Amino acid sequence: MTSTPARKVIFDTDPGVDDAMALYYALAHPAIDVVGITTTFGNVLVEQAASNALYLCALASREIPVTVGASKPLVKVAVPPPDFIHGADGLGNLPQRVITRGTPDPRSSPQFIIDTVRQSPGEITLVAVGPLGNLATALRMDPELPAMVREVILMGGTVLESGNVSPVAEANIWNDPHAADAVFTAGWPLTMVGLDVTHQVILPLALFQAIAEHHCHRATDTLHHAVSFYSAFYGQHDSLVRQVNGCYGHDVLAFVVLTNPELFTLQNGRVRVAVDGLAQGQTMMRRKEVSYPQYGWHEDIPHTQVCMAVQADACKAVIEATFMRNWL
Ligand code: BDR
Ligand code: CA
Repeated sequence: MTSTPARKVIFDTDPGVDDAMALYYALAHPAIDVVGITTTFGNVLVEQAASNALYLCALASREIPVTVGASKPLVKVAVPPPDFIHGADGLGNLPQRVITRGTPDPRSSPQFIIDTVRQSPGEITLVAVGPLGNLATALRMDPELPAMVREVILMGGTVLESGNVSPVAEANIWNDPHAADAVFTAGWPLTMVGLDVTHQVILPLALFQAIAEHHCHRATDTLHHAVSFYSAFYGQHDSLVRQVNGCYGHDVLAFVVLTNPELFTLQNGRVRVAVDGLAQGQTMMRRKEVSYPQYGWHEDIPHTQVCMAVQADACKAVIEATFMRNWL
């Protein structure tokens, strides 16, 4: 029997509680091979993001290169990290950390992306779940990148659903709108997993408790602790989530669309990002082939596949089944 080789993925991330969830989903899933983790500022400062990525890998006994990348947005002024959502350490204020080894790869995140993609042209998928400065800088450093990457999947943006940092903007895009616009217009095969679908999938805290009890392992205990903190935030601020006592899984859905695309409804369109003003960070999608006279919506803007709907229950079942595998 032949089996499909696991998809080689560079995970671009700002861990972050749902980033940690996404990373562990990827490590648990046999169809995904995480070949590198490129970190960025976002939920925490970039040094903390790299330290968290190394820590999460060490807990799960995985040796994966981790790099340090963007420390601030390309153009806009940085804002302080949202410690009220992810904790000051990004992992829900862990009471203590065990001593682990591991230091970042000396290359910058954009350099690592370029080197890895050039080593295996056509094979690398970029799954990006933070502000998009690493991808934008890699594009600037190596304009041939779009032709060599297999696929880009990003968690960010929203089309019809309201934003989560403003009425129209999602956090990852709002954190670096100039970088996001460069990524949406680069011309690589791109899938956007935004709030239109991530706000449909509420993951109960009880699931992470069950996962921790099933594995009895420091990695899943750490994830359970982090998700408890994160769920408390959502419980206070979101009446829908409060009914469930849980959280949105945001970043993990960027991997679920890779492993289970059949659970998502995709629409093709041209996406641009508002880079400043009140609508800063808004992802605007031109869905119909209307000939708009305004510059910026012409045929030269590449298509993005945007996730517009998701089978939420099936998605939760896939997440649960994956975490319950024998992966630790
Ligand atoms: C996104 O913002 C971050 O806080 C999360 O990690 C996720 O990537 C959701 O808007
Ligand atoms: Ca994230």
